Amino acid sequence: MSVYNEKVMEHFRHPRNVGVMDDPSGVGEVGNISCGDIMRMYIKVDASERITDIKFQTFGCGAAVATSSIVTEMAIGKTVHEALAMTNKQVAESLGGLPPLKLHCSNLAADALHAAVKDYLARQEALGTEPFASGAV
Ligand code: FES
Repeated sequence: MSVYNEKVMEHFRHPRNVGVMDDPSGVGEVGNISCGDIMRMYIKVDASERITDIKFQTFGCGAAVATSSIVTEMAIGKTVHEALAMTNKQVAESLGGLPPLKLHCSNLAADALHAAVKDYLARQEALGTEPFASGAV
């Protein structure tokens, strides 16, 4: 019997939005030095700062793959500000919970998303555009 619930197993077996993105608006890569897992996330952002597409590559455990998958589903359609506000706890809860020993895996997924958004914001700043034109921070 698996220590993971059925939803986690389903995302692990059939992860959504796996792959590489051509010409992304932002890319985030994070790793966990204790387990060695690595996650990379790509986002495409439209003119209204909404995430319209997202892809990930994860070299890691089953929980890391499942949390990557659910994070992509949670983030698509959200603004970059909403994506930045997503927490590790929300990721784990969206999967119906993770075993305590695997909770750190959900941190990796949220951190990769946040890193991709921060990369997007840094690119906007480098271009001299105002990433927070809407006034929402
Ligand atoms: Fe490393 Fe899950 S064991 S992210």
